[in-house]
Amino acid sequence: MASQTSPPSWLILISLTCALLISCIIASDGDQKVYIVYMGDRPKGHLSASFLHTRMLQEVVGSRASESLLYSYKRSFNGFVAKLTKEEMEKIAGMEGVVSVFPNEKMELHTTKSWDFMAFTQQVPRSQVESDIIIGVFDTGIWPESDSFDGTGFGPIPSKWRGSCQFSSTDFTCNNKIIGAKYFHIGRPIPAEDYASPRDRNGHGTHVASTAAGRVVNDASLLEFGKGTARGGVPSARIAVYKVCWSDGCSDADILAAFDNAIADGVDIISLSVGRGGESLPLNYFEDTTAIGAFHAMKNGILTSNSAGNSGPIYGSIRNYSPWSLSVAASTIDRKFETRVQLGNNMFYTGVSINTFNVDYSYPLVYAGDVPNTQAGFNGDLSKYCNTTNSLNILLVSGKTVLCEQDGNGTVVFRAGAVGTITTSNGGFTDSSRSYPLPASYFGWNDAAQVYNYIKSASNPTAIIRRSIETTDQLAPYVVSFSSRGPNPITRDILKPDLSAPGVYILAAWSQGTSVTGIQGDPRVVPYNIISGTSMSCPHVTGVAAYVKSFNPGWSPAAIKSALMTTALPMNSANNPDAEFAYGAGHIDPLKAVTPGLVYDAGQLDYVKFLCGQGYSTQALQIVTGDSSITCSAANTGTVWDLNYPSFALTSQSYQPITRVFHRTITNVGSPVSTYRAIVVAATGLQIQVVPNVLTFNSLGQSQSFVVTITATFINNNVMSGSLVWDDGVYKVRSPIVAHSSYVAHSSS
Ligand SMILES: *[C@@H]1O[C@H](CO)[C@@H](O)[C@H](O)[C@H]1NC(C)=O
Ligand SMILES: *[C@@H]1O[C@H](CO)[C@@H](O)[C@H](O)[C@H]1NC(C)=O
Repeated sequence: MASQTSPPSWLILISLTCALLISCIIASDGDQKVYIVYMGDRPKGHLSASFLHTRMLQEVVGSRASESLLYSYKRSFNGFVAKLTKEEMEKIAGMEGVVSVFPNEKMELHTTKSWDFMAFTQQVPRSQVESDIIIGVFDTGIWPESDSFDGTGFGPIPSKWRGSCQFSSTDFTCNNKIIGAKYFHIGRPIPAEDYASPRDRNGHGTHVASTAAGRVVNDASLLEFGKGTARGGVPSARIAVYKVCWSDGCSDADILAAFDNAIADGVDIISLSVGRGGESLPLNYFEDTTAIGAFHAMKNGILTSNSAGNSGPIYGSIRNYSPWSLSVAASTIDRKFETRVQLGNNMFYTGVSINTFNVDYSYPLVYAGDVPNTQAGFNGDLSKYCNTTNSLNILLVSGKTVLCEQDGNGTVVFRAGAVGTITTSNGGFTDSSRSYPLPASYFGWNDAAQVYNYIKSASNPTAIIRRSIETTDQLAPYVVSFSSRGPNPITRDILKPDLSAPGVYILAAWSQGTSVTGIQGDPRVVPYNIISGTSMSCPHVTGVAAYVKSFNPGWSPAAIKSALMTTALPMNSANNPDAEFAYGAGHIDPLKAVTPGLVYDAGQLDYVKFLCGQGYSTQALQIVTGDSSITCSAANTGTVWDLNYPSFALTSQSYQPITRVFHRTITNVGSPVSTYRAIVVAATGLQIQVVPNVLTFNSLGQSQSFVVTITATFINNNVMSGSLVWDDGVYKVRSPIVAHSSYVAHSSS
């Protein structure tokens, strides 16, 4: 996953992510590689899956079969992981029953004021069955002793639970809050620095789990920052942990193993804040681990909530985009951090960072380009970036504050003995920031240039980096620049992302097995940390989906998704120039989502019809669904515009006007007797017709169909927005509409 287009590394704000960004295919012996052989629905019949998998391998690799087979998927779907040469892989790909074979690659990890910010207070009504909801979190594991996961006062484990608590030593135990935990690290040894258990060495998984379902903990803060009550969306729900991310990355094979188990274990919702980087090539649905896993989850009534990715604001950078899962963008809450710097000439500048250090002391200030480690062969052109180990001269740097021209995570200056750093990068964004292992402030390019001029002109330049100040962001919520943008790279006319949720400066629980930054030598071990990412927005949506399900236990994944999307708060395209490609349906509104009025429902057969229309074969779809009666006949082949999706998208390959017809069916879950009217809002250039434009319902569960015809005439914009709202005076069921010309790339790309 080499990065061509990835944003400055500080945008990827999660510890270890930089390490995970690098590398691709897991190394193995000679020219063998680790492949995943995907074989569709759960194996049927009497023979054990591993026996069948070994037999298939024997045909191709002979006596090496059992050694080659690394893992068998069999609880929720069929497939295996094996070490193969390219030639062997090709033979297996041609075998009967095989849907796809793809290399085992690595994904990246994509932070509670946020709930109050969404007007979802501690006093909201709660369903009695909230404590029966089980949330499966696929991540770096969990810190079970955190106050956020205290099992005290929880009733017995829900009887539907079929999972277990796995530990290889005595270092991990579950409780009535964390009811299950497993770890997967297929085909390679567990790195020495990791815990060989579901315990979290990184912090990310603990953070995500507590955001979705952590209990209410008062007086939480990151060293007094963000002080308040930390809580998840569903504090009474149970957590099932599937550790798939390690210091050596999150592999496809491990993530699929988590899906295979979580579905069979009986989780209700899956939270997956992991995905491919925007620089990786988009994959077809049945070659894409998260799409495959989420498909089988959907088939079993389980919604998967995915992070959209942190590769924004690049156009089309979203990577978790299957129509049967939720793709969540990240937006700001009203919290932000400013870090002031006072120079020796008494000039004050304000940068961004989360600086918990309280050092009101003036240190000598040097420019990194002036202090290269020439003995090791570095010059100023390289040392100025502070991003290469050993590139700075320790004698000239230690005890000083260093101005750097590239914003990394601070490791290099910290190791060189610096006591502070001012960083900048050309064209960098300041709508989020991070913690560093030393006092630090990230500056805009122009301010950094003034600091540079001061260093060059003063005889004894000095600087004081102040502790950050927590301030409010009046523009919130808007989608943060790092959040991956649509359009959907595989199916352009399914709008992605689906919606946005808080993902910037989120306070949640943290692992005690690491520090604030995860950088060696950072002494700050904390129970709560503040981080940012779509990894943090995803579990907010997971928590809300669980909340909605606790009031509507029978709803399908598509119905829950529809409820979340159609009740979302429209966002302002003035603050989000990418409009729907930044925020989808808008900003999640947890309370409204429980009572959407109407839902756009869909099930396996609807997705099959859509997939037939996308060119997937009858044979593949029969294997994937395990249903041999399925055919891609004309009657069962649908257009992308007819998938019963809660949003509307159309793409033109040129600036020519384009017309598309969308068929939709909407189901009454509001008032038994109600009459809804269609209210359409459209940008100039968009013509939208809804027939019929009045729908009458006489009972709950009743469905009504309608047709939307949209004509887009592109004038100056290549993105035009609109909306359709079904309104009965009580409920407003809003769908975003976006028309897009891909003739020229979008302005912000
Ligand atoms: C910090 O960044 C360096 C690359 O500059 C990377 O090797 C290292 O893993 C990162 N550390 C953490 C904890 O993110
Ligand atoms: C350091 O930053 C510069 C400028 O962005 C970049 O060209 C270079 O590849 C980076 N080096 C490393 C080791 O990340």
